[in-house]
Amino acid sequence: MHTMVNGQQVSYQEAGQGVPLVLIHGYPLSASMWAPQLRGLADVGQMVAPDLWGFADSAPVADATMGTYADEVRALMDEREMNRAVICGLSMGGYITFEFCRRYEDRVAGVILANTKATPDTAEGKAGRDQSAELARTKGVKAIIAAMLPKLLAPQTYQRNNALVLEVQGIMSQSTVEGIVSALRAMRDRPDSTPLLPWIDRPALVIGGADDQLFPRAELDRMVEGLRDAKLVFLPDAGHLSNLEQPDLFNNAVREFLKRVG
Ligand code: MLT
Repeated sequence: MHTMVNGQQVSYQEAGQGVPLVLIHGYPLSASMWAPQLRGLADVGQMVAPDLWGFADSAPVADATMGTYADEVRALMDEREMNRAVICGLSMGGYITFEFCRRYEDRVAGVILANTKATPDTAEGKAGRDQSAELARTKGVKAIIAAMLPKLLAPQTYQRNNALVLEVQGIMSQSTVEGIVSALRAMRDRPDSTPLLPWIDRPALVIGGADDQLFPRAELDRMVEGLRDAKLVFLPDAGHLSNLEQPDLFNNAVREFLKRVG
């Protein structure tokens, strides 16, 4: 599906009926990463999953911040006549969820924070973003895929589930260099969301993967401690893309949460 936001094309996927649920993808992926949720939760959720600017068929924008993406999500909710929704973000999608809560609290019914963290980039992390942006500009999307693919899944997933590895690779290859560079800058410059946590006056579900190579459990525990009303679900045999590696367990947790919030 396609629509226009501020004169620019935004692509998105939607499915299901029930509690409004927005699914925000991680970097450098697209709405296609939510396929198991769009299929498996269609009986409980009215789901909309945007492709963020510069990913899949959404137009690239220069100088994006987390606010630019949060505004894209809000505009799409307006277009789909979704007044309030559960906002679910995985990794970079979680950073956007925090920014969405800062800007549009009244549009939030609850939050699902998957494989993400509230803390900002360290100085070393920021330098790494600049190096990755340079890599994308000089060597293209393929070089970013080569750097990211070995980190996104649990070590055992690479051995046991080659179909999933290829699927993730295919989703990443829909990204544009402009989209990647913009997202890297936005992630580098994102604020610390730790002080925001106690102000999120909505139910929260935090989901992690026991074998997440990028974000250790301590980051999730810190979020749960900071939030007013949060439950942690920690999935076994799952890496950074826990919704794809453990789709049934992920969906069960979301299903329970939607029952509570809806
Ligand atoms: C993501 O999965 O969205 C990214 O790995 C997040 C990050 O690099 O901070």
